[in-house]
Amino acid sequence: MNRKVELSEENYDLLDEAIHQLCEQGRLLEEQNAMQHGSTSVYEHSVNVAYKSLLLAENFRLPVDKQSLVRGALLHDYFLYDWHEKDGGHRLHGFRHPAFALYNASKDFSLNRKERNIIARHMFPLTVLPPRCLEAWIVCFVDKYCAFSETMGDSRIQWER
Ligand SMILES: [Fe+2]
Ligand SMILES: [Fe+2]
Repeated sequence: MNRKVELSEENYDLLDEAIHQLCEQGRLLEEQNAMQHGSTSVYEHSVNVAYKSLLLAENFRLPVDKQSLVRGALLHDYFLYDWHEKDGGHRLHGFRHPAFALYNASKDFSLNRKERNIIARHMFPLTVLPPRCLEAWIVCFVDKYCAFSETMGDSRIQWER
């Protein structure tokens, strides 16, 4: 069966609305100042992960809370520093950044249980505890897929705003 590569209009609007909200109410746009993988900024990476997480849920008709899935995915790397810069505080970035992201996101937004779990557990199995809800498993999987394709120079989604 052919799977769609583009979001439905309804889900596209949901993602667009969430991006606007997190940019206006918090510091999501600051993620444009730091690079993540290859030539992809943390912001582009986060939008990629949110887009593809929603697309996966849509294609496989997964029973998810779409709002939490999208918000958690957009905020999963909300650590707000450039981890490529040499700085003692950035040591062990891979292990520690989910906690930094959760700390920042909790300061700026009111997060529900699923959104917190998505952020805190997205680096599993690097961080030992596994995700506890379907939404967090999706982001954990899609994050690795996006990291790989961005590192290989294929970030695909060009989000205009
Ligand atoms: Fe991450
Ligand atoms: Fe990520």
